[in-house]
Amino acid sequence: QALAENFNNNGVDDDLQVPQRYLTKEPSAEEVVAGGDSNCVIPVIDLNRLVDPRSSSSECAKLVSACRHWGFFQLINHGVPDQVIGNLKSDVVKFFNQPLEDKEECAQRPGSLEGYGQAFVVSEDQKLDWADMLYIQVQPSESRDLRFWPTRPSSFRNSIDAYSLEARELGHRLLEFMAKGVGADPASLRAVFQGQAQGMRLNYYPPCRQAADRVLGLSPHSDPGGLTLLLQINDYVHGLQVKKDGKWFAVEAVDGAFIVNVGDALEIMSNGKFTSVEHRAVIHPTKERTSVALFFFPSSDMIVGPLPEFMKGNQVRYRSTSYQDYMKQYFAEKLDGRKHLDRLRL
Ligand code: SIN
Ligand code: FE2
Repeated sequence: QALAENFNNNGVDDDLQVPQRYLTKEPSAEEVVAGGDSNCVIPVIDLNRLVDPRSSSSECAKLVSACRHWGFFQLINHGVPDQVIGNLKSDVVKFFNQPLEDKEECAQRPGSLEGYGQAFVVSEDQKLDWADMLYIQVQPSESRDLRFWPTRPSSFRNSIDAYSLEARELGHRLLEFMAKGVGADPASLRAVFQGQAQGMRLNYYPPCRQAADRVLGLSPHSDPGGLTLLLQINDYVHGLQVKKDGKWFAVEAVDGAFIVNVGDALEIMSNGKFTSVEHRAVIHPTKERTSVALFFFPSSDMIVGPLPEFMKGNQVRYRSTSYQDYMKQYFAEKLDGRKHLDRLRL
């Protein structure tokens, strides 16, 4: 199947037709409440303030409120060294800039979710996202399948490794503050994700000068896992939109901040104290966009259900599910909002 990359002709050939398979029902303009000058700024959380005993409880409360009402926040003063982020960003850009044949050395193979290509293509007639991606499992290190790890640029594997270690530490710290913020044992969430799988998805969204408003970079979905840390390569090219109160909001992130969001498993475990919010990526007519999403997953053996720490006398609001079964279903269907999660709501 054709990769969106093939149509990234840098404007050389304006007559090139966008194939029907990429033309989705257009995101209608009035759906997007915030746009242009009034882009929405999702809540900003400051890791320094979470750590500082003088500000910790008020910042924790802000964190919990963001996770409940937006399912998203942006994190500043996150402590991940500039160099680690800079190396990763520059290698990701170099990777996607290579000729298609070089990227296809990491091509997806039947039976694996990893590799370079397109995700969630489950039928011949479904619509396709206007994007290319590389998905790899990055932690624990012994679970890496190096067939899908780029060898070029030559520093890339090191950059990914260094970044995934920093991100792991950061993710665990955030989970502690999230638990603390709702009065649960700070170790309770961390324990669920410690030592478990981390996946990394590099997204490349080519510009689409012919029909940017009729294609989607990433179909609406909620993330299946615990937490997601998103890094945008160019903070000034926006594309992420989140759904709140039935409306799409364009997300504008502070320079250098991580965008963090809650996934399905965390909504279930928190018994709805945190929300896994539907989001999508849209396409710019002339600017490309690149992002790196890092996902924290619970163990596939886990029976995911509301954790006692998060119940405290409240009713159970979700059916429990084997995480393995949940993921199997998630990857067997085209992305479509929160449908998998909503099936488990009581
Ligand atoms: C994602 O949903 O993984 C992120 C979409 C993006 O902003 O690139
Ligand atoms: Fe996502």
